[in-house]
Amino acid sequence: MFVKVEKDYEEMSQRGAEIVAEVVRQKPNAVLGLATGSTPEGLYKCLIDLARKQNLDFSQVTTFNLDEYEGLPAGHPQSYHAFMWEHLFEGLGLREEQTNLLSGIAGDLASECVEYEEKIRRAGGIDIQVLGIGGDGHIAFCEPGSSLAGRTSVVALHPQTISDNARFFETEREVPRRALSMGIGTISEARTCLILAKGEGKADPWSGMIEGPVTSQCPASALQLHPWTIAISDTDAASKLKNLEYYQHVARERADQPVLPPWIVRPELDPRRQAERAIDTNA
Ligand code: GLP
Repeated sequence: MFVKVEKDYEEMSQRGAEIVAEVVRQKPNAVLGLATGSTPEGLYKCLIDLARKQNLDFSQVTTFNLDEYEGLPAGHPQSYHAFMWEHLFEGLGLREEQTNLLSGIAGDLASECVEYEEKIRRAGGIDIQVLGIGGDGHIAFCEPGSSLAGRTSVVALHPQTISDNARFFETEREVPRRALSMGIGTISEARTCLILAKGEGKADPWSGMIEGPVTSQCPASALQLHPWTIAISDTDAASKLKNLEYYQHVARERADQPVLPPWIVRPELDPRRQAERAIDTNA
């Protein structure tokens, strides 16, 4: 995991946007995995700015979002569909057919989840997955206790998540109790993961993710097993990291190294593929 600390939210957002922009530069038909929540809002704003200033072409990009509340139609102001159009898709001028989100009102939610996995596969897999972290260490809506190998499914939200997200609704009772969410197994297959955190409230789950054991009690800690996760936070979220100085040293030493893995453009170099091939050869 590459741990980076930026001095504030603006710098973190700018850095994150540059990384996503670089994926699209290297691979114009990239598949972007996207997240909601207040954390990535700044990244999306910076990405729209970058796209305009640098004339970046998003016309061939495909997007997949991590999750959606059960029961909220796409037009509901608190749906993640609405969030994405407001904060990113509109600004990038994306066409609806380029974007994919789970439907929280599908007649058969289990099939909706299976088909979503299939769509990701058909699109060639996710090149970069943007993530935030929940106060309880969740990623997407994979709450503590979720299988670290889990696939997209219908999940029950943790009471802390319901109360954390109540700020977006009129009352806490309006927050849906369940959601559809990519699983940790689905997320882990992305070629790159880019996870962001801001504020003191994230300091505990952030240190759990980076320095704690790999455990379903802190779902984000599964990213320690991912071959290329970039973790960027502001100084407040990094305040409980024990090895902070070392991460800063590594960041300085790596300053001239590519920020993206070579397997974005050369999938055969992905170490996970090499492991699969080794198993095939031995069989
Ligand atoms: C929700 C989303 C997560 C997000 C989390 C944190 O639960 N499903 O993807 O990371 O909120 O949100 P925020 O960035 O607002 O703290």
